[in-house]
Amino acid sequence: MEIKSLVLAAGKGTRMKSILPKVLHKVNGISMISKVLKILKKAGIEENILILGHKKELVLSEIGEKEYVEQKEQLGTGHAIIQAKEKLKDFDGTILVVCGDTPLLREESIKKLYTQHKKNNSAVTIMTAEFENPFGYGRIVKDEEGKVKAIVEEKEANEEIKEIKEVNTGVYCFDSKKLFKSLEEIKNDNENGEYYLTDVIKILKDKNELVESLKIKENKEVLGVNSRVHLSQATSILRERKNIEMMENGVTLIHPETTYIEEEVEIGNNTTIYPGVILEGKTKIGKNCKIIGATRIENSEIRDNVTIESSVIEESLVKSNSAIGPFAHLRPKAEIGENVKVGNFVEIKKSILYNGVKAGHLTYIGDSEIGEETNIGAGTITCNYDGVNKHKTIIGKKVFVGSDTKFVAPVTIGDEAVIGAGSVITKDVPEKSLAVGRAKQFIKKGWNSKK
Ligand code: UD1
Ligand code: CA
Repeated sequence: MEIKSLVLAAGKGTRMKSILPKVLHKVNGISMISKVLKILKKAGIEENILILGHKKELVLSEIGEKEYVEQKEQLGTGHAIIQAKEKLKDFDGTILVVCGDTPLLREESIKKLYTQHKKNNSAVTIMTAEFENPFGYGRIVKDEEGKVKAIVEEKEANEEIKEIKEVNTGVYCFDSKKLFKSLEEIKNDNENGEYYLTDVIKILKDKNELVESLKIKENKEVLGVNSRVHLSQATSILRERKNIEMMENGVTLIHPETTYIEEEVEIGNNTTIYPGVILEGKTKIGKNCKIIGATRIENSEIRDNVTIESSVIEESLVKSNSAIGPFAHLRPKAEIGENVKVGNFVEIKKSILYNGVKAGHLTYIGDSEIGEETNIGAGTITCNYDGVNKHKTIIGKKVFVGSDTKFVAPVTIGDEAVIGAGSVITKDVPEKSLAVGRAKQFIKKGWNSKK
């Protein structure tokens, strides 16, 4: 394809009232700029040049190494495009302009726009849409024959033009040579004192160039996010799309309206997600899982046949056939093997629980390794922190840990050892041994009858 895109992302986004550049705000768990780049990739556009300015380092750290030009001062969308002139001076083809703040675009619409543009060999093809309330958008002004004559921004629009419901979406295909030629003529004599890209339309028209438009049916797709209200609207729309995609792939959502599945989450076939579940980041869930209650899973991998109820899981791995919760907390780097049971009020951090481990109740496991089929009694705590450093607790296979045991790390317990309930274990325990570390019980018979 003889097409390159220019992605406008230099603006501050004043209306967001944010310390972040606008395009770094997230819609359903993905930054707007990453989402736009993802759409362009899906549309098959391989060469994308970003126009960056305000806090460009932050934007680059989000998207990684990308081709870009800098717009040092944000003097308007036309001025922004001019910054790419030098870079594109030898390019003769189509330039697709998109804004970094339209994350709902569909790749099909971009393809359609390009196809029409190529077919008619136009100087520009503008993607338009109709809004019942077009406030804030540039209006598409047409002549008697229904051909686009100009785009007039909200601030310059008179009452008659404000009535126009067809708006500029900020997505266009341009003939590259004609675009940069016309940009030489734009001025900043408008209400904002900005160089508007939209002024190019009238300039091309006056030169008798072919100016065309393509109206997109679903106006939701071209919502430009300028404020936090728009941000939440865009998120709702993307969330609904994601939920539908999941259901179409064979995932059951009991109540999609209260299920939050972020953009990059993957879920396997026949998994059921109950109301109130939040799946965030790059979380991957396997097949035949059941996720119930107020559960939040972030950047974690859950394999097949896992049940999770009312729990929080962060940056962790849960292998197949295990059950988590209710009310468990897997903190970063918890690795849970197969057929493991992590039950009520159990917290696990940076630890490996090998296959078949049971930790059913009221336990803290940190910086530990727990061997296969070991049973951790209720109330067990690994004392991993001495106030300065963290230490490891290593527990072997088939160990029986009595309730209310404290392991004072660093400590190692051999395979098949038995720990008496209520023990404070400060020394290593050899395999197959019994360890009891608690005050001996004494009895004074009749002690209470003297009174
Ligand atoms: C723009 C269009 C408007 C259209 C709307 C669609 C112009 C003059 N107006 O208005 O016709 O209906 O988009 O959403 O083009 N940017 C820069 N450098 C600048 C200024 C802006 O890179 O100097 C970037 C912004 O970061 C943003 C994009 O351009 O991603 C659009 O800017 P914005 O200020 O949001 O334009 P709108 O007022 O929405
Ligand atoms: Ca905008």
